[in-house]
Parts: sequence; C-alpha cells; structure tokens
Amino acid sequence: MANTPAQPAQPAQPEHSLKPAHVYASQRDWPAYFQVVAGKPPRETLLDALRRFDAEGLPRPDATPPLAIDLGCGEGRDTAELLRRGWKVIAIDAHPDAVRRLKARPDLTHPERLEIRERPFEGLQLPAAILVNASFALPFCPPDHFDALWAAILTALPPASRFAGQLFGDRDDWAAIPDRTHHTIDQARALLADFDIEHFQEEEDDGKDALSNPKHWHRFDVVARRKGTA
Ligand SMILES: C[S@@+](CC[C@H](N)C(=O)[O-])C[C@H]1O[C@@H](n2cnc3c(N)ncnc32)[C@H](O)[C@@H]1O
Repeated sequence: MANTPAQPAQPAQPEHSLKPAHVYASQRDWPAYFQVVAGKPPRETLLDALRRFDAEGLPRPDATPPLAIDLGCGEGRDTAELLRRGWKVIAIDAHPDAVRRLKARPDLTHPERLEIRERPFEGLQLPAAILVNASFALPFCPPDHFDALWAAILTALPPASRFAGQLFGDRDDWAAIPDRTHHTIDQARALLADFDIEHFQEEEDDGKDALSNPKHWHRFDVVARRKGTA
C-alpha cells in the first residue's frame, strides 16, 4: 500500500462557523448576495420617500420625469420600482455583476429612462437630483472617502429634494471592519443637519445577514427632505 501523508486534524466544526460576523462581511461575496436577494421587493425607506413625493404630485404625468440616483443599486430592486413609478434613474454600483443583473431583470420597465454607471463611491461626482436613494449601501464606502461622498450627495440635492436609505451604527458587527463607515446616532443626525427628518428609525438586534451569517445589526433607516422650498 502506498504511503499517504499524515492529514492535519480536522476541526470539530466547519471553519466558517467559528469566524466572527465581521470576517464574513469583510470577505463579502457580492454575487452571492445578489443571488439571495433576487426578486425581493423594494426597500421600505424608498417606498416611504415615494409616498411623500406622490403626496406632493411627483412625478407629474405631463412633465419631464424627475431624476433619482440609486447609489449602490445592487441588482436593482429599488431602481426597478423607481422606473415603474415614472422616475428617471441613474443607477450606480461598482460591481459588474450588479450591472449585469440589473440589465437582465425581467421586471425592468422603461429602460430609456435608466442610465447605469458602473463606478465606485470613491471620487464619485453626482448630478442634481430630486432623490438620492442609498439602500444598505453607504457603509460600504471606505471611511477616507465618506465625507466626499456625503458632500457630493448634499451638492446633488436641491431644496425640497430627498435622501432615503440607511446609515449603519457604531454597535453594528461590521463596524469592526476597517474599510467600512459607521456612525453613532449623534453623527448620523449631524449628517442630516440640512434636512427636515421625516423618518429616522434606529434598529438594533441580533439576527442574520443576507447570507444567513449571524450578525448584530445596528442601523438608522432614514427618509429626509432637504430644507428650503423648491
Ligand atoms: C448591501 S448591497 C445593497 C444593494 C441594494 N441597494 C439593496 O438594497 O439590495 C451594497 C451594494 O453596494 C455596492 N458597493 C459596495 N461597495 C461599493 C463601492 N465602494 N462603490 C460602489 N458600490 C459599492 C455593492 O456592489 C452592492 O451592490
């Protein structure tokens, strides 16, 4: 019988079950995420913002569609809803698989109103828009670039426009990852100083991420209207 090299002892549990939550997230597998969330409905923060625009008569049926920017659009659950509801959309994401999946969505209506930009948050410039939507995306901007990204969002938004999306809190498991941007509640509110806050919900619980890894969540769901009149 041929000699076989000694095998290292196997751990009692699969290696992945021993890793802290932030290790899974730092090795984020975006294509797996896009696969898991495929077919999910639009985010509640987007729907809240759209209800408020509806109440203000936007989009107007007889006028040019208003522009929304969907930052970190992923596979497009929010972009598809914006298009369906009459908006023009600039959908931005750095991942080519996000762009590929967005283009291939079976529910994608009015592609003539959609512009896709495959770009990172780092160094991003934004045109003026009536809505900047950033669902579960901003914490993935590295801290060195977050201030510039937030400044670009503020510059893009005129009076009476809206921001919708999430900021992640300082007690979230992923706050331990060096290239992520998390905020205390005071910091989150300070970012919104030039807005009238319409919805600000702090969520904190033990749960799972989209890939079913255990995770302590701490986040702020936000819908806010830029101060001033249109
Ligand atoms: C958690 S997903 C959210 C996707 C979508 N908005 C949703 O609600 O399902 C975060 C998205 O941010 C994108 N992303 C992560 N880091 C990025 C970066 N530095 N620049 C641009 N996009 C980034 C990812 O490709 C991913 O699509």
